[in-house]
Amino acid sequence: MKIAAFLGSPRRGGNSEILLNYAASVISESGHDIQIFRPNSINVSPCLNCGGCEKSGICVIKDDMVQIYSAIRESDRFIISSPIFFFGLPAQIKAVIDRCQAFWSEKYLLKRTIPEGENGRKGLLILVGGMDKLVGFDCGDATAKAFFRTISVPKHETISFMKVDDRGAIKERPEAFLKVKNAVLNLL
Ligand SMILES: Cc1cc2nc3c(=O)[nH]c(=O)nc-3n(C[C@H](O)[C@H](O)[C@H](O)COP(=O)(O)O)c2cc1C
Repeated sequence: MKIAAFLGSPRRGGNSEILLNYAASVISESGHDIQIFRPNSINVSPCLNCGGCEKSGICVIKDDMVQIYSAIRESDRFIISSPIFFFGLPAQIKAVIDRCQAFWSEKYLLKRTIPEGENGRKGLLILVGGMDKLVGFDCGDATAKAFFRTISVPKHETISFMKVDDRGAIKERPEAFLKVKNAVLNLL
């Protein structure tokens, strides 16, 4: 199976990257292919709401989203691993999600859903946040849900970790790695 993964954080070696790298190691050990996109390190412009995708399902902006569009079409499983910023997802991953308006146009205006493939399509959302309030994850989860459904992923699991703030603090939380492993095995 092919897995496309997205890192929400701009912080290298941060908590969501540590968990995503761990998820990737579980996936590779299971014999599947994973491609990780780091929106902070590539060139993805925000959506212009120009309406260009409405008739074709294709975005008029030609930047690094071109590779992401292909990966989203061709993959069977999808992971977002991200911190919460101001109760939502960071701007870098939000730009990728907003540019999926092209898939929204394709699905809802042009009535063409991305074909399921023989393995179906499933998603996993991993969230970390510094606060100790579960409500802090709700907006990020809602945005990711809209993303997954738009790219024709009917089901996703969300796992979230509160009170994780300093770079690498997640390493002190062994239960997080167990939860990620179980979620990844469930995803596959
Ligand atoms: C701009 C900014 C906004 C943040 N807003 C929130 C927030 O609303 N809720 C929360 O729980 N944590 C918030 N945090 C804390 C991060 O989610 C936390 O430090 C997380 O562990 C960072 O993950 P990373 O290491 O993968 O980047 C914020 C951090 C930054 C830099």
